[in-house]
Amino acid sequence: NKDISILAIESSCDETSASIIVNGKVLNNIVATQSVHEKYGGVVPELASRAHQENLVPVVQEAIFSSGIDKRDISAVAFTRGPGLMGSLLVGVSFAKAFAFGLGVPLIEINHMQAHVLAHFIEDPKPDFPFICLTVSGGHTQLVLVRDFLDMEVIGETRDDAVGEAFDKTAKLLGLPYPGGPVIDKFAKNGNPKAFKFPITRMPGLDYSFSGIKTAVLYFLRDELVKNPKFIDENIEDLCASIQYSLIKMLMIKLEKALEEYQIKSVAIAGGVSANSGLRSTLERMARKNGWKLFVPSFEYCTDNAGMIAMAAHYKYLQGEFSTMDVAPIAKMKL
Ligand code: KG4
Ligand code: ZN
Repeated sequence: NKDISILAIESSCDETSASIIVNGKVLNNIVATQSVHEKYGGVVPELASRAHQENLVPVVQEAIFSSGIDKRDISAVAFTRGPGLMGSLLVGVSFAKAFAFGLGVPLIEINHMQAHVLAHFIEDPKPDFPFICLTVSGGHTQLVLVRDFLDMEVIGETRDDAVGEAFDKTAKLLGLPYPGGPVIDKFAKNGNPKAFKFPITRMPGLDYSFSGIKTAVLYFLRDELVKNPKFIDENIEDLCASIQYSLIKMLMIKLEKALEEYQIKSVAIAGGVSANSGLRSTLERMARKNGWKLFVPSFEYCTDNAGMIAMAAHYKYLQGEFSTMDVAPIAKMKL
């Protein structure tokens, strides 16, 4: 059997996921989402590790079963080495090692951020090199210059909060449920983005900062609520639209600057925040105006998923890039 069949595992945050890829084609992408964190208003690391421990084997079983391949035909086992929550990563790494050891096949470590970028090669249309990928999620905000499948460089990133975190934290201040990003998106559709003015933080170079807006919203709400206790309820749509406007504006300023600086016209977006309808329409408008080619993967491959880990693993397999059995996770792994 000359097929390259890889089992890939993702467990860096709060999704437990497994995928089978055969000869570069992702056959499935099984994801168990952890709902346990909702009532805490954010991911609780200890609970995430436990949920991975419970979900991982069933998720892997389903991935293997639904792919129709025999587990003895697996050529390698891939896993997310980082960045992510240490306890969550440990569950995935330990499982991957044991499974690879049992089957007597190589182990492939994957950088989660690289995988977010390579998610663009799961389905058509695929971007051509070089392109710039804006990765925006609850844990990351990065501008990545992508020269080849395994040749990429971070050219800008957040110095503090991720943009998804800014959505979620300001949503919490508005009393909205977690995760707040999609809720802000929904209210923003009917609001006036210019109703209130929130800060557009400008960092040097291509870096971002999203922590200022949550402090600004906090003080703004505190002052308004003294005058009118119903201020949030009466203005929720305008508040959401105005917050979202500032966040998107900050993303776009640096993206435009990066494309200009590197003379690149292909743009890709990745990560959970790429579901935001305001971000999508702004990107589409700017792409038309500036002649950019825009690549947005299916939402399934934007959020954390093992399909993207599998895709990255396929390229590493072709390069013969395998890990040793003493490999350990790295919570703050760099791209
Ligand atoms: O990629 P993801 O599922 O997980 C990681 O953080 O890695 O991203 C989750 C983030 C959350 O912060 C969530 O609020 C945000 O993506 N998000 C959105 C939308 N959908 C998800 N933010 C704004 N608008 C949305 N429609
Ligand atoms: Zn992610």
